[in-house]
Amino acid sequence: MKLFYGIVPVLLYFVFNHLYYTWLPRNYVFDKDVLARLSQETIAEHPDGNITNIMIDLAPKIKAEYGDIINDLNFEEWVYNNAGGAMGTMFILHASISEYLIFFGTAIGTEGHTGVHFADDYFIILKGKQLAALPGALYPEVYLPGDVHHLSKGDAKQYAMPSGAFALELAQGWIPAMLPFGFLDTLSSTLDFQTFARTVYYTGRDMVANLLRGKF
Ligand SMILES: *[C@@H]1O[C@H](CO)[C@@H](O)[C@H](O)[C@H]1NC(C)=O
Repeated sequence: MKLFYGIVPVLLYFVFNHLYYTWLPRNYVFDKDVLARLSQETIAEHPDGNITNIMIDLAPKIKAEYGDIINDLNFEEWVYNNAGGAMGTMFILHASISEYLIFFGTAIGTEGHTGVHFADDYFIILKGKQLAALPGALYPEVYLPGDVHHLSKGDAKQYAMPSGAFALELAQGWIPAMLPFGFLDTLSSTLDFQTFARTVYYTGRDMVANLLRGKF
């Protein structure tokens, strides 16, 4: 019996990993290539690189493509995100069990660990740049506006976003498994419980609303 309990986490991992490649993708509605195209078009329409205007134009284009599962952009419901030693700010355009879509970035600049995720992550740069490096890399990967940085499930990198860098981030996978990474720096370091509560509220509100719409 003891042995059985010991292998439960391993069995669960194999079940969820199997579903990751079979059933879970059937729930995905977002297409990274469509999001990249909409982002690139919008960036091209704003040669001055005004990120406020880029987001104000891009969010409705995403909503026109994907409908009610996209939240209307506002600047009241942004929350800090502390994770992997990095700090940024985000706005949740969509959160469900299998996908999230957010604006993420920093006016100040940040650097840290990407985290190791049970999801594929697509980071579409809207402004500024992102640097990333695997452990053996002596020179960084550099992502500029319009570029898509794909962080594959299970991979980890060091990354940096210098001051004024913003991105549209799509994650597809087991989103609840990503949440501890998103919260533990708050619970163990910043103790910013207002940010914690607001993040849980905005994420939970969206996940429930989308489940009720039948979007897993
Ligand atoms: C960006 O555009 C907004 C108007 O949407 C304006 O208020 C702001 O000053 C602009 N920012 C810069 C840096 O030009």
